[in-house]
Amino acid sequence: MKKAFIKSYGCQMNVYDAGRMADIVSAEGYGEAGTADEADLVILNTCHIREKAAEKVYSELGRLRDMKRDRAAAGRDTRIVVAGCVAQAEGREILRRAPAVDAVVGPGSYHRLPGILAGLSGPVDTEFPEADKFDLLPPPSRRRVRARGVSAFLTVQEGCDKFCSFCVVPYTRGAETSRPVAAILAEAGELLAAGVREITLIGQNVNAFHGVGPDGRAWSLARLMSRLAGMEGLSRLRYTTSHPGDMADDLVAAHAELPALMPYLHLPVQAGSDRILRAMNRRHTADDYLRLVDRIRAVRPDIALSSDFIVGFPGETEADFAATMRLVESVGFAGSFSFKYSGRPGTPAADMPGAVPDPVSSDRLQALQSRLEADRQAFNRGTVGRVLDVLVEKPGRHPGQLNGKSPFLQQVQVTGAAAAPGDTVRVRVTGTAPNSLFAEAVGAAPALDAAA
Ligand code: 5AD
Ligand code: SF4
Repeated sequence: MKKAFIKSYGCQMNVYDAGRMADIVSAEGYGEAGTADEADLVILNTCHIREKAAEKVYSELGRLRDMKRDRAAAGRDTRIVVAGCVAQAEGREILRRAPAVDAVVGPGSYHRLPGILAGLSGPVDTEFPEADKFDLLPPPSRRRVRARGVSAFLTVQEGCDKFCSFCVVPYTRGAETSRPVAAILAEAGELLAAGVREITLIGQNVNAFHGVGPDGRAWSLARLMSRLAGMEGLSRLRYTTSHPGDMADDLVAAHAELPALMPYLHLPVQAGSDRILRAMNRRHTADDYLRLVDRIRAVRPDIALSSDFIVGFPGETEADFAATMRLVESVGFAGSFSFKYSGRPGTPAADMPGAVPDPVSSDRLQALQSRLEADRQAFNRGTVGRVLDVLVEKPGRHPGQLNGKSPFLQQVQVTGAAAAPGDTVRVRVTGTAPNSLFAEAVGAAPALDAAA
């Protein structure tokens, strides 16, 4: 039997797409290879968000080229496919730079992989087809879903119309589109039947969701979630990633009204200086963001907030950076991702003057990250003594221990619970480690009760 190996880089959208590609190639008769070396087909599902991410692909392709040559000498054929956002952004250029590559498929066209692998079309397909690619994919395989555990991603929205000036997403993932509600409910039903208990709805700009409902009207994300929350077997809902400009009132209210919706929100702000936010074309000020945080905390005071930050955006001064640090101090994030600005070809910011030299941006990144890390630890310490519900994911390292997630997306090691993956147990948090919490079971949790 031929075997395929899929390697995914970057965001959750790619993790989800890689799963769907695994189903495609399995329907084409490929088994799963544990490593690239044993694979007859290697798919790199790539990320273009920062230069470092994109360059990783070419170094991996260098290794694969040598592997392909060695295997060919032993009489074995290897096919290499580049998928994802580098495929979309660079297209045919990839074949020029890396001739060992057999095919290039974008995030909007990977459902056509079978035809491309059969040589019926391609080798470069980066069209965004009119039809919903999800309708054309094999349904998620229960075996694969089960193997991935009790928590699953479900893509509900793709693309972005915001055009932040630093970001390639509107170019690589195209315009905003939402999947129809019926298709999402059907896929959620499949996931739950395979044993999934927590569904994270994903989209580049997920809170701009406006999929057509069975009533023919556009449904908001909040309306979609309130329907999903009633589905048999579902314990927890999350959604990511959101733009502050799309936090509609009904979505904020959902954080108070839907017990299944976990008190955790990834809401990137990127920077704290209005001048930089304007240059980033973020369409919100620092104050807009802080007021939004107040609205959310008014309905869900204990919510854990996280953000993305970019330091060293063109023209960023010490005063601008200080404004970012002030915003961080006033919000108190439970966790965040932060990056040095990376100029991306084709984006407006790539042509802006005022590049911030590297030692300066590195220093800023370090200062920001140590503050964010201190805040994360403080948030974790703040949960010590609290009674929380933990969704059990797997057995722990030691006998009698279980690993799971808190409502705030913290990893928790639980002792004293007789429970299986997929169960929710009620615990008291007893302590913290750098990347997890320790807790003792205090009983089984009543269904759909997020946190006591
Ligand atoms: N440079 C650095 N970081 C970037 N991001 C997006 N584009 C760039 C870029 N050109 C970051 C943003 C975004 C996260 C996914 O990646 O913070 O929210
Ligand atoms: Fe990129 Fe901005 Fe869209 Fe996020 S909202 S995907 S940062 S353009």
